[in-house]
Amino acid sequence: MSTMFNRFRQMRISRQLSITAGASIILFSVTLTAIASTLISRQLRDNAVTDARLQTEQFAERTIFAFLVEDLTVAEEAIGSITAFPNIDDARLIRADGETLARYDNGHAINDTNSPIRHLTNIRESSEYWIVAAPVLSSPEPNDLDNGSVNAEYLGSVVLAFSKSPVRETIRTIWVINGLAGLAAAGIFLALLSFQMRVLTDPLRSLSSTMSNGGRDAPRKRARIFGSKEIQEIAAIYNQLMDEIETSQAALESEVAIRTQELKTARDAAFAANRQKSEIMAAVTHEMKTPLQAIIGYTQLTLEELEFAVEDDAAHRSREQLSNILGRAHELLNRITQMLDLARAEAGKFDLNLVETDISALLHDAQKSILPLAAERNNKFTAEIDCPATILIDRDKFQQIALNLMTNACKFTHNGEIYLRCKGRPNRLLLEVEDTGVGIAEKDIDSVFEPFRQVDMSASRAFGGTGLGLAISRQFAKLMGGEIDVRSELGAGSVFTAKIPLPIKMGAYGAK
Ligand SMILES: Nc1ncnc2c1ncn2[C@@H]1O[C@H](COP(=O)(O)OP(=O)(O)OP(=O)(O)O)[C@@H](O)[C@H]1O
Ligand SMILES: [Mg+2]
Repeated sequence: MSTMFNRFRQMRISRQLSITAGASIILFSVTLTAIASTLISRQLRDNAVTDARLQTEQFAERTIFAFLVEDLTVAEEAIGSITAFPNIDDARLIRADGETLARYDNGHAINDTNSPIRHLTNIRESSEYWIVAAPVLSSPEPNDLDNGSVNAEYLGSVVLAFSKSPVRETIRTIWVINGLAGLAAAGIFLALLSFQMRVLTDPLRSLSSTMSNGGRDAPRKRARIFGSKEIQEIAAIYNQLMDEIETSQAALESEVAIRTQELKTARDAAFAANRQKSEIMAAVTHEMKTPLQAIIGYTQLTLEELEFAVEDDAAHRSREQLSNILGRAHELLNRITQMLDLARAEAGKFDLNLVETDISALLHDAQKSILPLAAERNNKFTAEIDCPATILIDRDKFQQIALNLMTNACKFTHNGEIYLRCKGRPNRLLLEVEDTGVGIAEKDIDSVFEPFRQVDMSASRAFGGTGLGLAISRQFAKLMGGEIDVRSELGAGSVFTAKIPLPIKMGAYGAK
């Protein structure tokens, strides 16, 4: 029941109104028809009874002669005159002593009765008949038999049976006519109502469809202004709203276009500045490298000359100091080389140098050079290399990536394990370096590839380095169209994975 009511409430207004008004009109016309028909029927029945009593009375007067002469033929003639009426089925003339003088039994509705009839009486009413009786007096003057003031002699009585069928027929006809009239009125009413409803709801429907679809499309649809005054007002307000939205949207779009242009200019300027910075850095580091290499060269030369000098304390000290200078100079050269590499990669100054490379041999060499560092930290090193004979790749850059990842694994792991895995497939080369070292916290994971970024500065200071290894490795991987990812858990270890799609296309990938 409640679901029906809910469904009704969600119907269109026009349908709700049609159902409510239609049901009301039908109920109203049915009730009106029933009341009118009942009243008319009752009136018709009352009239029929009055007519029957009048007819009986008149018939009684017409039978006086028959009672006086007591002649059957005269009596039957009198009966014949009354039974010619279609509504009279039975008639009986009863003498004062209760004996029947004459009778006409068509419907057999009249029972024998011996009691004298002193007044005009409705003896009985059945579903089919009204039985009416009247006294027959020698004079038609009123006769008060009950009070004993007798003006006329009581001759007997007449009893007539009036059939109800003609009245019932008329009543039925009236019900049918009234019913049809009620239906016709309800139909006309409903037609008028649905017309009025359409006049009222069409503008509403058009407005609602414009509002639901028009707001999305560009240019926004405007509502048609028609219908009742209130609906026209709503449509006008909606159109005004759409005008305002379009105006402010146009203003917003032009503002966005200006801002986008400004941002583009700023971004281009930033790119240009970054590139310029990298170019300057590349030039400066390059300029620094030349004198440093000269310093290293001269120091080495001096050291070699000292080999032949007299072995005394001063010579010994000089050799030690020069060795220290040489070590630091190499460290400095190493860092300058790293900065130069990164600056050149960022400035897009690196070209790929693709050569057929035996990856297994390359990685075994790298592993050899890294083993002392692994041993120094008491780490166990395991390598699983599964590569085809040769791959066309930039040998030096791939080697540097592998060395950087392996050095990091050794640097940040103590008494642990390091795994080097490499899989060469026709469509990609996968290099994975896993360690069980200190690991990286989740919040730091994205920043490890940024230049000069070391997660824990104090710890990194202990491990050494400048924080450039991963930044350079990622630039090199990108230069070959690849990427380096990391998965790590603080305290549990890290896995760095370099993926390089094969075959590498020359000049297809710019460093970012
Ligand atoms: N295997 C690893 N385990 C834990 N932390 C690591 C690992 N590899 C790198 N990191 C973190 O990322 C930082 C950046 O590494 P990156 O190789 O760029 O610099 P670095 O090793 O500190 O110095 P450089 O490589 O220039 O000698 C490191 O300082 C360290 O904090
Ligand atoms: Mg490093």
